[in-house]
Amino acid sequence: MIYPIVIYGSPMLRNVSEPITADYPGLPQLIKDMFDTMHASDGVGLAAPQIGKSIRLFVIDARPWADEDPRLADFTKAFINPEIYERFGDEELFNEGCLSVPGIHEDVSRPTKVKIRYLDENFVEHDEEYDGYAARVIQHEYDHLEGKMFVDRLSPLRRTLLKSKLAAMSKGRYKADYKTKLVK
Ligand code: NI
Repeated sequence: MIYPIVIYGSPMLRNVSEPITADYPGLPQLIKDMFDTMHASDGVGLAAPQIGKSIRLFVIDARPWADEDPRLADFTKAFINPEIYERFGDEELFNEGCLSVPGIHEDVSRPTKVKIRYLDENFVEHDEEYDGYAARVIQHEYDHLEGKMFVDRLSPLRRTLLKSKLAAMSKGRYKADYKTKLVK
Protein backbone atom coordinates (compact mmCIF):
# COMPACT_ATOMS: atom_id res chain seq x y z
CA MET A 1 0.00 0.00 0.00
CA ILE A 2 1.19 3.48 -0.84
CA TYR A 3 0.48 5.98 1.94
CA PRO A 4 -0.07 9.67 1.29
CA ILE A 5 2.83 11.76 2.58
CA VAL A 6 1.91 14.12 5.41
CA ILE A 7 2.80 17.68 4.46
CA TYR A 8 4.50 20.49 6.36
CA GLY A 9 2.00 22.34 8.51
CA SER A 10 0.38 19.14 9.77
CA PRO A 11 0.78 19.25 13.57
CA MET A 12 1.53 15.50 13.77
CA LEU A 13 4.91 16.12 12.13
CA ARG A 14 5.84 17.98 15.32
CA ASN A 15 5.14 15.08 17.69
CA VAL A 16 7.99 13.33 19.45
CA SER A 17 7.48 9.72 18.37
CA GLU A 18 7.16 6.73 20.69
CA PRO A 19 9.31 3.58 20.73
CA ILE A 20 7.65 0.37 19.56
CA THR A 21 7.86 -3.27 20.59
CA ALA A 22 8.22 -6.34 18.37
CA ASP A 23 4.48 -7.04 18.69
CA TYR A 24 3.49 -3.70 17.12
CA PRO A 25 0.48 -4.65 14.98
CA GLY A 26 1.28 -5.32 11.33
CA LEU A 27 4.90 -4.21 11.61
CA PRO A 28 6.36 -6.24 8.69
CA GLN A 29 3.62 -4.96 6.37
CA LEU A 30 4.06 -1.40 7.63
CA ILE A 31 7.79 -1.52 6.89
CA LYS A 32 7.12 -2.88 3.42
CA ASP A 33 4.52 -0.16 2.83
CA MET A 34 6.97 2.50 3.95
CA PHE A 35 9.56 1.28 1.44
CA ASP A 36 6.88 1.19 -1.29
CA THR A 37 5.69 4.70 -0.37
CA MET A 38 9.25 6.04 -0.37
CA HIS A 39 10.02 4.46 -3.74
CA ALA A 40 6.76 5.74 -5.25
CA SER A 41 7.79 9.29 -4.38
CA ASP A 42 11.47 8.85 -5.35
CA GLY A 43 12.68 9.45 -1.80
CA VAL A 44 15.82 7.98 -0.22
CA GLY A 45 14.40 8.11 3.30
CA LEU A 46 11.00 8.09 4.97
CA ALA A 47 10.09 8.35 8.65
CA ALA A 48 6.88 6.96 10.14
CA PRO A 49 5.56 10.43 11.17
CA GLN A 50 5.52 11.29 7.47
CA ILE A 51 2.77 8.71 6.97
CA GLY A 52 0.96 9.84 10.10
CA LYS A 53 2.37 7.38 12.62
CA SER A 54 4.14 8.79 15.67
CA ILE A 55 6.43 5.80 16.17
CA ARG A 56 10.20 5.54 16.16
CA LEU A 57 10.76 3.93 12.79
CA PHE A 58 12.33 5.10 9.56
CA VAL A 59 13.47 3.46 6.36
CA ILE A 60 16.33 4.40 4.07
CA ASP A 61 17.20 3.25 0.57
CA ALA A 62 20.40 5.05 -0.36
CA ARG A 63 21.17 2.88 -3.38
CA PRO A 64 20.50 5.76 -5.82
CA TRP A 65 23.66 7.37 -4.36
CA ALA A 66 25.86 4.32 -4.97
CA ASP A 67 27.47 6.06 -7.97
CA GLU A 68 28.90 8.66 -5.62
CA ASP A 69 29.61 6.26 -2.75
CA PRO A 70 29.98 2.55 -3.64
CA ARG A 71 29.44 1.60 0.02
CA LEU A 72 25.77 2.47 -0.50
CA ALA A 73 25.28 -0.17 -3.23
CA ASP A 74 23.25 -2.35 -0.86
CA PHE A 75 22.14 0.27 1.68
CA THR A 76 18.47 -0.44 2.18
CA LYS A 77 17.48 -0.65 5.83
CA ALA A 78 14.77 -0.15 8.41
CA PHE A 79 15.73 1.57 11.67
CA ILE A 80 13.54 0.87 14.70
CA ASN A 81 13.88 2.75 18.01
CA PRO A 82 17.14 4.31 16.79
CA GLU A 83 19.34 6.33 19.07
CA ILE A 84 22.02 8.57 17.61
CA TYR A 85 24.39 8.64 20.58
CA GLU A 86 27.28 10.49 19.01
CA ARG A 87 27.61 13.11 16.27
CA PHE A 88 31.12 14.08 15.30
CA GLY A 89 33.38 15.17 12.47
CA ASP A 90 33.19 18.54 10.76
CA GLU A 91 29.97 20.42 10.18
CA GLU A 92 29.18 20.30 6.48
CA LEU A 93 26.57 21.87 4.24
CA PHE A 94 24.48 19.57 2.06
CA ASN A 95 21.46 20.40 -0.07
CA GLU A 96 18.50 18.64 1.55
CA GLY A 97 14.92 18.13 0.58
CA CYS A 98 12.04 16.33 2.24
CA LEU A 99 8.98 14.57 0.88
CA SER A 100 6.94 16.46 3.50
CA VAL A 101 8.25 19.81 2.20
CA PRO A 102 7.78 19.50 -1.56
CA GLY A 103 9.55 21.96 -3.83
CA ILE A 104 12.00 23.27 -1.24
CA HIS A 105 15.68 22.35 -1.21
CA GLU A 106 18.13 24.11 1.09
CA ASP A 107 21.68 23.70 2.32
CA VAL A 108 21.66 22.31 5.85
CA SER A 109 24.69 22.12 8.13
CA ARG A 110 25.19 18.86 10.04
CA PRO A 111 28.12 16.87 11.46
CA THR A 112 29.57 14.41 8.94
CA LYS A 113 29.60 11.35 11.22
CA VAL A 114 27.22 9.59 13.57
CA LYS A 115 27.12 6.57 15.81
CA ILE A 116 23.71 4.98 16.06
CA ARG A 117 22.11 2.07 17.89
CA TYR A 118 18.92 0.67 16.42
CA LEU A 119 16.86 -2.47 15.89
CA ASP A 120 16.40 -3.88 12.42
CA GLU A 121 13.12 -5.28 11.10
CA ASN A 122 13.81 -8.54 12.96
CA PHE A 123 14.44 -6.64 16.22
CA VAL A 124 18.13 -7.48 16.08
CA GLU A 125 20.21 -4.73 17.69
CA HIS A 126 22.96 -2.96 15.75
CA ASP A 127 25.53 -0.41 16.79
CA GLU A 128 27.09 1.26 13.77
CA GLU A 129 29.04 4.27 12.61
CA TYR A 130 28.18 6.15 9.43
CA ASP A 131 29.63 9.05 7.49
CA GLY A 132 28.91 10.85 4.24
CA TYR A 133 25.50 10.48 2.58
CA ALA A 134 24.41 7.76 5.01
CA ALA A 135 25.11 9.95 8.06
CA ARG A 136 23.26 12.79 6.35
CA VAL A 137 20.07 10.91 5.60
CA ILE A 138 20.11 9.15 8.99
CA GLN A 139 20.23 12.52 10.77
CA HIS A 140 17.47 13.92 8.57
CA GLU A 141 15.15 10.96 9.23
CA TYR A 142 16.02 10.86 12.92
CA ASP A 143 14.95 14.50 13.20
CA HIS A 144 11.45 13.49 12.06
CA LEU A 145 11.16 11.18 15.09
CA GLU A 146 11.94 14.17 17.30
CA GLY A 147 9.33 16.35 15.59
CA LYS A 148 11.98 18.35 13.78
CA MET A 149 12.24 19.22 10.09
CA PHE A 150 15.21 20.31 8.01
CA VAL A 151 13.76 23.79 7.53
CA ASP A 152 14.13 24.30 11.30
CA ARG A 153 17.88 24.03 10.86
CA LEU A 154 18.31 26.85 8.35
CA SER A 155 19.87 30.19 9.11
CA PRO A 156 17.43 32.87 10.33
CA LEU A 157 17.85 34.66 6.99
CA ARG A 158 17.00 31.59 4.87
CA ARG A 159 14.05 30.87 7.15
CA THR A 160 12.75 34.40 6.72
CA LEU A 161 13.04 34.06 2.95
CA LEU A 162 11.05 30.81 3.03
CA LYS A 163 8.44 31.97 5.50
CA SER A 164 5.66 32.81 3.04
CA LYS A 165 6.27 29.67 0.99
CA LEU A 166 6.01 27.50 4.10
CA ALA A 167 2.94 29.36 5.29
CA ALA A 168 1.31 28.74 1.90
CA MET A 169 2.28 25.07 2.04
CA SER A 170 0.68 24.64 5.44
CA LYS A 171 -2.54 26.02 3.93
CA GLY A 172 -2.43 23.49 1.11
CA ARG A 173 -0.79 25.58 -1.59
CA TYR A 174 2.01 23.38 -2.90
CA LYS A 175 2.69 20.99 -5.75
CA ALA A 176 3.85 17.40 -5.42
CA ASP A 177 3.84 14.60 -7.97
CA TYR A 178 3.04 11.97 -5.33
CA LYS A 179 0.11 11.35 -2.97
CA THR A 180 0.06 13.82 -0.09
CA LYS A 181 -2.21 15.05 2.68
CA LEU A 182 -2.41 17.88 5.14
CA VAL A 183 -3.75 16.74 8.50
CA LYS A 184 -4.97 19.57 10.69
NI1 NI B 1 12.20 14.49 5.56
